[in-house]
Amino acid sequence: MINSILTVENLSLSLSPQKEILSGVSFSIAKGETLLLCGKNGSGKSILLRALKGLIPITKGSIFLDDIDVSKKGNARNASIALVFQDTDTQIVGQTVYKDLLFGLENLGIKQEEREERIKEVSSLLDISSLLHKNPMNLSGGEKRRVALGGVLVMKPQIIFLDEPFANLDYPGITQVIASIMALQQRGVAIVIATHEVEKIAFHTDSMLILDKGKVVEWGTTKEMLFKSEQYGIRIQRVNGLPLPFEEYSWRN
Ligand SMILES: Nc1ncnc2c1ncn2[C@@H]1O[C@H](COP(=O)(O)OP(=O)(O)OP(=O)(O)O)[C@@H](O)[C@H]1O
Ligand SMILES: [Mg+2]
Repeated sequence: MINSILTVENLSLSLSPQKEILSGVSFSIAKGETLLLCGKNGSGKSILLRALKGLIPITKGSIFLDDIDVSKKGNARNASIALVFQDTDTQIVGQTVYKDLLFGLENLGIKQEEREERIKEVSSLLDISSLLHKNPMNLSGGEKRRVALGGVLVMKPQIIFLDEPFANLDYPGITQVIASIMALQQRGVAIVIATHEVEKIAFHTDSMLILDKGKVVEWGTTKEMLFKSEQYGIRIQRVNGLPLPFEEYSWRN
């Protein structure tokens, strides 16, 4: 597809011979596009994100990055795609927040001056500057999530997957994550957000893909898909029986 940064064609994945977890998944995402990935618990959202990043081998199908076939190049996908896990505890490795942010930059061989620059910029964006010298283990859930996001943002990826970015966050935590997502959009980063909490973010996304039992059941502009999503277990907000207008699907404050 023209201008697509990530294209997935007919992807299937089985973890055991009897059970296909993803079947014939196809979609694409353009540079700077934000895709909302929805579906019930167990529909395959997290597995799809992990498989695209190259953490789980796919059984069938093709994955292209910038029109280059990387289906068999898990390492190339791992390097190009940043994933913030549903469970952020597994993602934070440093003994301090600062060291955690530094870790990826050192691996990439980024020069000292630029490392400091990037850490400063991302800390200020995510409002974690005051946490830099704390032990990540002692942070709250919301703080940890911002640190995990920071750990991938300092690497300046062009594609970011966020798996349940609002889980366990309070209202200020959610609005901070939304502000960070919008800052990434301004920079032209392609973003995939896996969540069923569409009321918080749908208005700020371009496209929506709905998975049901590992298959794509809807894919199109968020505005069109949102109101079709109720049958797949996504909660549409209503007032006096009428669905809220699309513009209201935003917790941006
Ligand atoms: N390690 C595993 N081995 C076998 N089956 C698994 C494994 N991990 C997940 N599954 C199955 O794969 C399916 C998809 O799981 P996945 O975690 O991708 O769902 P999800 O859409 O992210 O759900 P949630 O909304 O609860 O996060 C589920 O049926 C799950 O039971
Ligand atoms: Mg999940």
